[in-house]
Amino acid sequence: ADMAERSRDIVREHKHLEGPLLPILHAIQAEFGYVPEDVKPVIAGELNLSRAEVHGVVTFYHEFRDHPAGRHVLKLCRAEACQSMGSDRVADRVRQLLGIDFHQTTLDGAVTLEPVYCLGLCACAPAAMLDGEVYGRVDDHCLSEIVGEIGR
Ligand code: FES
Repeated sequence: ADMAERSRDIVREHKHLEGPLLPILHAIQAEFGYVPEDVKPVIAGELNLSRAEVHGVVTFYHEFRDHPAGRHVLKLCRAEACQSMGSDRVADRVRQLLGIDFHQTTLDGAVTLEPVYCLGLCACAPAAMLDGEVYGRVDDHCLSEIVGEIGR
């Protein structure tokens, strides 16, 4: 099935839920790996929302991507406890090592860098997650390991 058809099915599977938009967006991202621009009018049409409303929700929640992710997804915690333990410095270092900013993917498609707002690891701040695996007390040594895993 093409993307529009598949997304229409997903929307119909979820539209009976109360507050269906978020579950629909999660299901769309699970299916395609991101929320494609072309799917927004389909969702809007099915839910009787404007395209701008759908777009607004997609951009409000940091977990939704507007482009396919790289082979690896590196998330850095940007919330308070991690901020107070130097996550800004970690973020600068990662941007420098990978040559990308948050919400971007390296040109070779190896990794996408994303912010996350608390990984529940505040006691081990600053925290990061690579492909679902969490890392605490992220320092330069830990970062070079992470970047090694990514294979760059
Ligand atoms: Fe970063 Fe909780 S604030 S893990």
